[in-house]
Amino acid sequence: MYRLRPATASDAGFLADVTISATRAQGRLADGFDEAAWRAGFVEWTLESIEDPGTELYVVDVDERPAGRLRVSRTPEAVELNGIQLHPDIQNRGIGTAIITDLESEAVRRGVPLQLNVERDNPNARRLYDRLGFVKVSEDGAQDVLRWTKGVEQNQLWNADVAARYDTPDTGMFADDVIRPTVARLAELAAGGRALEFAIGTGRVAVPLAGHGVPVSGIELSTAMLDQLRTKASAESIPVEVGDMATTRTPGEFTLVYLVFNTISNLLTQEEQVACFRNAARHLSPGGRFVIELWVPELRRLPPGIPATVGVADPGYILLDTYDVLQQHVVSHHFHFGEGTEAHLGRTPHRYIWPAELDLMAQLAGFTRESRHADWSGTPFTADSPSHVSVYRLADA
Ligand SMILES: C[S@@+](CC[C@H](N)C(=O)[O-])C[C@H]1O[C@@H](n2cnc3c(N)ncnc32)[C@H](O)[C@@H]1O
Repeated sequence: MYRLRPATASDAGFLADVTISATRAQGRLADGFDEAAWRAGFVEWTLESIEDPGTELYVVDVDERPAGRLRVSRTPEAVELNGIQLHPDIQNRGIGTAIITDLESEAVRRGVPLQLNVERDNPNARRLYDRLGFVKVSEDGAQDVLRWTKGVEQNQLWNADVAARYDTPDTGMFADDVIRPTVARLAELAAGGRALEFAIGTGRVAVPLAGHGVPVSGIELSTAMLDQLRTKASAESIPVEVGDMATTRTPGEFTLVYLVFNTISNLLTQEEQVACFRNAARHLSPGGRFVIELWVPELRRLPPGIPATVGVADPGYILLDTYDVLQQHVVSHHFHFGEGTEAHLGRTPHRYIWPAELDLMAQLAGFTRESRHADWSGTPFTADSPSHVSVYRLADA
């Protein structure tokens, strides 16, 4: 889609041209803008930047031709996007999004945030960054400082300890009576094509699905979870892109994208959840399916004034969910304990989704609902079902 090459002195004129064209197209050149003076200063600064070891300046090549400018600084604390300008002719092709999501993947692999500044008078850029999950952290003159920390946060949540304990062979979510119907139904829905798992984790479903003969790829934010997957399947047999399932693009076209075990709720805003549906649609061929396994929020069990439900109260494990019905957030509190009085608490934040809202998200991304069942075996979904498997389909060509 695009290629980055380090800028040299002979690119300085082009980098000035593309910056002016992009800024003009955004309607952000001030009245009386002195192009000649600006260009001379910009070229001089570009030549200094090329020599500066603290920053990297790139030409963005698209279709083998120079089409943009990218400036990045890499410090021990962060990846900093210092500037991105694309020629108006190649805008709206998803190239800016692809460059930024690739930088997000780099930040995930390095375990640091991705940071950038955006002018407050550039609402189009701001909308893009909001959609990609950036959050404003401070102000710097006429600019807002935005940071993307989802990779760091998910890697803290799904760290090496959690990843090492995740697989419970033959029991719980790894029991044969859970995996067998899941794999059989997904293989049927893939209809002979390729499948993509969003948030593939350690490959609980992907590994047996690939063993069933369905080619599977994945997207995953936690490098620790991915390391565990790699103990079971190679990058050739199950290729995985490190990144955010709401935005990351992985090569190829698929007949099935699936997102199981309640994981769409790990995206904490409605915008990101809708973006996730759109990202699924982007990967599918016409008629392709997006399958979601999700719990039904237990709002009917919340008495007025009591914002929590007890999901499990077993010897050694208690699950308490606390609801914030204004933000539509729920935090699951997992208490693990033994014989003594000490307990270990782990917490996971979610944005819960009522099934009707999920259907509307699907509609916004161009899907219609093909089926909804209470489980992978086709049990009818009723008002009392605690969770559902919903199948959404894109229109045939
Ligand atoms: C409950 S596990 C599910 C893993 C696997 N799908 C399964 O069924 O066992 C949730 C996974 O989602 C991943 N995850 C959370 N948010 C993500 C995001 N925005 N993009 C990609 N992966 C994400 C976590 O790192 C973790 O591996």
